[in-house]
Amino acid sequence: MTSESSTRNSPDHSRIASIQKQVDRVIDDLRASLPKPDRLSAEERRGIIARYTAVLEGNFIYWMTGAWLAVRSDAARAKIVENLQEEVRDAHPLMMRKFAMAAGALPTTADTVAVHQSLTDMRLFIGRLSSVRIIVTMAFFEGLIQQFMPYLAELARLQGSSEMEYTDVHGVCDIGHTEELYRALDAEMKLADEPIAAGNTFFEGVDLLRTLIEHIVTGPAAMARADKQYDARARHVPAPGIGASAVPAQA
Ligand SMILES: [Fe+2]
Repeated sequence: MTSESSTRNSPDHSRIASIQKQVDRVIDDLRASLPKPDRLSAEERRGIIARYTAVLEGNFIYWMTGAWLAVRSDAARAKIVENLQEEVRDAHPLMMRKFAMAAGALPTTADTVAVHQSLTDMRLFIGRLSSVRIIVTMAFFEGLIQQFMPYLAELARLQGSSEMEYTDVHGVCDIGHTEELYRALDAEMKLADEPIAAGNTFFEGVDLLRTLIEHIVTGPAAMARADKQYDARARHVPAPGIGASAVPAQA
């Protein structure tokens, strides 16, 4: 097994730095694209909170469990277990539920359907258990979530809520946490037996998760686009192990 100390002076350091730069750029672009909360209608604000809840409440622990099943390095396992322990011990799905309820934004059927296809793509991606791609996706999500929390909190505040435990807990910027995650990525890349350098597929999970977040924000408009693509793909479900490019990301 690879320990953190053995990866610190890794020859892949510049590669990891380049991955982090690219992930940070996607986070910055996504944050810059968010519509201003005070320019949205109350229904649009409710919809964003509800679709975010429809995705995160029941899926984050599942994604983390998939990550745990996929990785091999001690560094990656330790990071994921730490995350899972916090999620379960502190009942983060309950925090999410309380946040949505207080904002009058429990997901409706329409909210669930609006993110159905992009959430399905994300679930299938996790199911392929590609360790390196999943860790890169985790790094993206961890960075994004810290920046998205003030936005989510502002949406809820404008909806009249003062229940902010969820956004307070997840909005803490922990630089040490992020460094550990990138060290875990380095360790995992050394142990991976998959073609991780294969062009765009390296960021496949980042692309899928970015699309999912965009659909959370855009809602019904995204659903209309997803419907067309859903038909075009004829409900294709890839067999396990046929490669990372089996399910293309939505535009
Ligand atoms: Fe959480």
